[in-house]
Amino acid sequence: MDFDKPAETNLFDNAEIVGKKHLRIDGPLKVTGTAPYAYERHDVVEGQLVGFPVGATIAQGRVVSIDAEAARSAPGVRAVVTTLEIDPLDIWNFNVARLFGGDVVEHYHQAIAVVVAETFEEARAAAALVTAEYEQDDGDYDLRAAFERLEGTGEPGTMVGDVDAAFRDAAAVVDQMYHTPSETHAMMEPFASIVDWSNGEDMTVWTSNQMINWNKQALATNFGIAAERIRVESPYIGGGFGGKLWLRADAVLAAIGSREVGAPVKMALPRPFIMNNTTHRSETVQRIRLAADANGKLTGIWHEAASHSLPGGRGEDATAQTPHFYATPSMRVKHHIVEMQLPEASDMRAPGEASGLMALEIAMDEMAEALEMDPVEFRIVNDTQVDPSKPKIPFSGRHFVQCLETGAERFGWADRNTTPGGMREGAWLIGHGVAGAYRGNMTMKSGARAMLSGGKLVIETDMTDIGTGSYTILAETAAETMGLTMDDIEVKLGNSAWPVSSGSGGQFGATSSTAGVYAACVALREKIADELGVEDAEFENGNVVAGDTTTALADLDGQFTAEDSMNFGDFQTEAYLMATFGAHFVEVAVHAATGETHVRRMLAVCDAGRILNPVTARSQVIGGMVMAVGAALSEEMALDTGRGMFANHDLAGYEVAVHADIPEQEVVFLDTLDGVSSPLKCKGVGELGICGVAAAIANAVYNATGVRVREYPVTLDKFI
Ligand code: MOS
Repeated sequence: MDFDKPAETNLFDNAEIVGKKHLRIDGPLKVTGTAPYAYERHDVVEGQLVGFPVGATIAQGRVVSIDAEAARSAPGVRAVVTTLEIDPLDIWNFNVARLFGGDVVEHYHQAIAVVVAETFEEARAAAALVTAEYEQDDGDYDLRAAFERLEGTGEPGTMVGDVDAAFRDAAAVVDQMYHTPSETHAMMEPFASIVDWSNGEDMTVWTSNQMINWNKQALATNFGIAAERIRVESPYIGGGFGGKLWLRADAVLAAIGSREVGAPVKMALPRPFIMNNTTHRSETVQRIRLAADANGKLTGIWHEAASHSLPGGRGEDATAQTPHFYATPSMRVKHHIVEMQLPEASDMRAPGEASGLMALEIAMDEMAEALEMDPVEFRIVNDTQVDPSKPKIPFSGRHFVQCLETGAERFGWADRNTTPGGMREGAWLIGHGVAGAYRGNMTMKSGARAMLSGGKLVIETDMTDIGTGSYTILAETAAETMGLTMDDIEVKLGNSAWPVSSGSGGQFGATSSTAGVYAACVALREKIADELGVEDAEFENGNVVAGDTTTALADLDGQFTAEDSMNFGDFQTEAYLMATFGAHFVEVAVHAATGETHVRRMLAVCDAGRILNPVTARSQVIGGMVMAVGAALSEEMALDTGRGMFANHDLAGYEVAVHADIPEQEVVFLDTLDGVSSPLKCKGVGELGICGVAAAIANAVYNATGVRVREYPVTLDKFI
């Protein structure tokens, strides 16, 4: 089915199932520990052996030799395969880090060997016996120094209007540097795979991955085998956040080990290995300059940022939102990708905007203060309904002002204290902060199969559920489209044998995959109507109703299967700018003596199209808000600039927000329909929740203390 113009029908506008509250279908399985995660699939294939990785202990250089003799003769060991015995694997598409093979070391903890043994303990013990000699090269790990070197150089980036004149003539100017550290996804379930490539031909992979088809294609390219010979399964995933978009070392090393020993091999990347072996969100250095006139209108936005990457990678474009978010007649926006010899920087929840808004939304607070304007009012004054970087292109839907107004009302914004450091409760300084949220809305072709089978309507697609609620919203879509109930639907996900979907990424999963399931169900309806020889059939209450004839779908069991995909047309990006919006309001308490910061109250108001399920959508948004509390107050990959590695590499040294850090959170959805985005008029929401929140916290800390911190995380040492 082609979606080549905005949805005009009132499709789903009177929905009885879509848009209503439904608890997660997979919830009971997950909370009772019965949802099988990749590493726990003991029953899928017999004779599983255990692999353990060995990582390089230099950041840059060459492996001269590897001594694996002691490991090979250690108890229980079946094989050790070293990187020097394997041709460098092809690097596929988005992955730029070499996963294995050859003597070149591009980053610390790049895999250099895999040990396969009968038990985990034996594999781990033997891995510790592997030693290597290196020729070590110098690396560059200093992004701040790189920014100083690069500022103002290179291609101009996005340029609109006369930005120099804007700053020359401005009534108020903000010009500041901001910094966000590298961050790790810190998902609960580590990267893990069981691979059976025993015969060296057909490969079966039970893994934890957001994008089944990318994973399969990457395996085929890397190992030079036909994609048809590979089956990838990933039905349950314990968090991904972008880290599991790609094929990583767990599946690659397990495959190599499996081929070597002729038996299935399972491998989970040890937590300390994950930080330096896989991907992370790059550190950013950002300079933001804002110019405004005396009426509080922005006249110029100048955002220049840098992030690091391996050669050919994308880093973290902190300027992603800047050309689009606020009305301005002039702008200059530029992102530098700096090649550094660090582990691969790649996507993490809301890549780009999450980091960019951490800076831009502080700068907006600073400008509001300079103009002596309320920061909510300042943002409202600078709203736009067209893309400021391409002024003829409208937003497909933008209700940012409504987010701000609704939030201010709900939060009691008018009652806040406007003098920084001027509100105190005993030992605690109280502050309030606001920030705007912006996250792009993408769509991806997505397919599914729908069939009447076993007394159910069965949906099969390679879509994944990374904890987001895919099972549930796809069942809703199928039930609504076919006139069935939630109990009539069985959704089967995460298997490469099934139609290729969008997968879960870039907050495009819900919009794209529900559209794909809708397309498959429409195809099924048409097949059934054709077969019954009826026209204008209605599918309702479990029946096909056409004129005087009523046929129960249950009576057609086993007779119908249809497959289709939703193809999203170019009109979406050619004629519109699609994005999601939000406003975040936060109350903090900062201890006047110790500087300890507590978040006390959080409110999010979201403009993200039709909300398919208020329960799962809320979970996504509060999950993003929790992640942003970590980003604001504690999360930082500590870079060892001497050795080129991240020194804190476990969840004791890398502090994510935990229950005790999280107060009451309130989420309001405006439920704004967007017919440009999808036939269901929904948009993504899974990444919107992390956007802007950290800046709202930093702004609240400023309001509490009078100290403006522009370096994340906002820790107590920075209040001095
Ligand atoms: Mo997302 S960072 O594309 O999983």
